[in-house]
Amino acid sequence: MKRINKYFAISLFVIMLAALITSCASLSKNDSTNGTTWGTGAFGSNGERIYFTSTSERGSKITYDEGPTSNAWMMSSGQLACASCHGPDGSGGEHGMGQMQVMTAPDIRWSAIGEEFDAKLFNLAVTKGEDPDGSQLSTDMPRWQISDEDLTDLLDYIKTLP
Ligand code: HEC
Repeated sequence: MKRINKYFAISLFVIMLAALITSCASLSKNDSTNGTTWGTGAFGSNGERIYFTSTSERGSKITYDEGPTSNAWMMSSGQLACASCHGPDGSGGEHGMGQMQVMTAPDIRWSAIGEEFDAKLFNLAVTKGEDPDGSQLSTDMPRWQISDEDLTDLLDYIKTLP
């Protein structure tokens, strides 16, 4: 009985190791124009893909300036996407940034911001960090370089978030 348990434990370990290696291998195959690390067909729309990966199926570049400067944050995240801060469901949340700093990313579901924002104001907030009230958003929110088409796709996706 003991012997069987040992073999079971060893084979489980081997299976887990294999799974780990496979997932690492697929992560390193990041190609920002064709498919994503998530694999082809992982996203229901280009907007959803942009939200999670900051890559577009058009192959157009999506980059940003600013964003949090904390080392802990930069080193753990690599390329940021909306979901990194605003969460997979858009409802935002708190993020520890090291050195006891906390960043709070707001809820950006349309149910939360749709009254204050329209497409143009959304565009200004995302690309220039301009808040509808005329003030500048904190530089924890990156300033994005993104094409109008991609931004339209992205907003269409954000509007579908429940
Ligand atoms: C590194 C974290 C981070 C990432 C990545 C990020 N944001 Fe933000 N975003 C923030 C923070 C923090 C704020 C709040 C800034 C403030 O209130 O001064 C914010 C604010 C916003 C606002 C304004 C909300 C309001 O109520 O005023 C919008 C819209 C927004 N982000 C959209 C996006 C979109 C779209 C993306 C992806 C293209 C994105 N953000 C990526 C952190 C981030």
